[in-house]
Amino acid sequence: MHIETLLAHLAEEGGVHDPYGASHLPIYQTATFDLKKQSGSKIYDYTRSDNPTRDALETVFAKAENGATCSCTHTGIGAIALLFETTLRANSKILVEKDCYGGTYRLLQVYKDKYNVEVFFADFTDLLKIQNLLETENFDLVLCESPTNPGMKIIDLRELAKLAKSNGSKFAVDNSLATFASQKPLDLGADFSVFSATKYISGHGSTVAGALVSKSEEDGEKVAYFANAEGRSQNPFDVFLISLGVPTLPLRLKHHEQSAIQVAAYLEKHSKVKKLVYPGSKNHPQHELAKSQMKIFPGVLTVHLQDVKTAEKLVASTRWFGEKASFGTADSRIEIPAKISHASFSEEDLLAIGIFPSTVRLSIGLEHIDDLLEDLENALK
Ligand SMILES: Cc1ncc(COP(=O)(O)O)c(C=O)c1O
Repeated sequence: MHIETLLAHLAEEGGVHDPYGASHLPIYQTATFDLKKQSGSKIYDYTRSDNPTRDALETVFAKAENGATCSCTHTGIGAIALLFETTLRANSKILVEKDCYGGTYRLLQVYKDKYNVEVFFADFTDLLKIQNLLETENFDLVLCESPTNPGMKIIDLRELAKLAKSNGSKFAVDNSLATFASQKPLDLGADFSVFSATKYISGHGSTVAGALVSKSEEDGEKVAYFANAEGRSQNPFDVFLISLGVPTLPLRLKHHEQSAIQVAAYLEKHSKVKKLVYPGSKNHPQHELAKSQMKIFPGVLTVHLQDVKTAEKLVASTRWFGEKASFGTADSRIEIPAKISHASFSEEDLLAIGIFPSTVRLSIGLEHIDDLLEDLENALK
């Protein structure tokens, strides 16, 4: 079955058993279930542990990622915390691609301070260095995004998975940017795919959400245990909100891609742009690797402007690009990562990933491309 068909039949594929044959996911907005009134193989008792609405979305997400199980969480960062709870313990070591989401960077600081977890940041495109690190240190978890955000590097997930596996480390990929409509980390060898559903997955930006998909049943059971023990499970109404966007994900992603390719081509030639970084552009040094891992390029671009003044003027002057955090919604967005999504990074660590105060991140929405290009042209005058 193709991903488009799976997502279009979300309720049915999620295993919903509705007496009225509801076409979309019914919301079981209840804390408890009466044990005396249920029969059959699946019994529900308490929504924190299990809920039919959440079960359906988890089933579809697990299928979409080709995983064994999925746990849906209140937020994307909650799903990353759940990953850490499942795989790390006090004094563990974790290896993380240094170009990571600012919230992940902040959460790692918490684990460092509270649980003495040793955090190693590295450039995952340097495979030799990664191999050496994996052979000399004993990592419980290796984590990266691909494409990285906001650096837009592509990580060779197949190679990383092989290296992590041969050194006994679990390997997790944050798939928020690419999404399962484009990239399947578990098929490339990862043990976990974790993502924020706040972004492309829902696309409407009405709530925050996340999910953690495990390749093996064994890992999935541990994840479900911690999701329940720590109360990380997503509430049924938010599951419903997220589910509204899911069937249109592949279609939306293709539109984001088409517009982003045109915006990239325009910005690459602009005299005020020092460098444009977009994996969908043939000029991206890892374009071929990107194509081998992703079916569709997401609509997020990173632009290094000629100076800070130009960057600030661009952000302040656009009409259709709101100065907002997050990405992947119908409306276009623009931000200076150093000020918003990556404000938790130290200045030194931001420079180490090549992000400057003159760096701008664009999320290309679903507006008409002519309006977006005209807007950028006016804002860059
Ligand atoms: C790559 C990535 N992962 C995880 C998250 C966290 O997701 P949420 O904001 O839903 O908690 C974000 C949020 O921006 C992100 O960009």
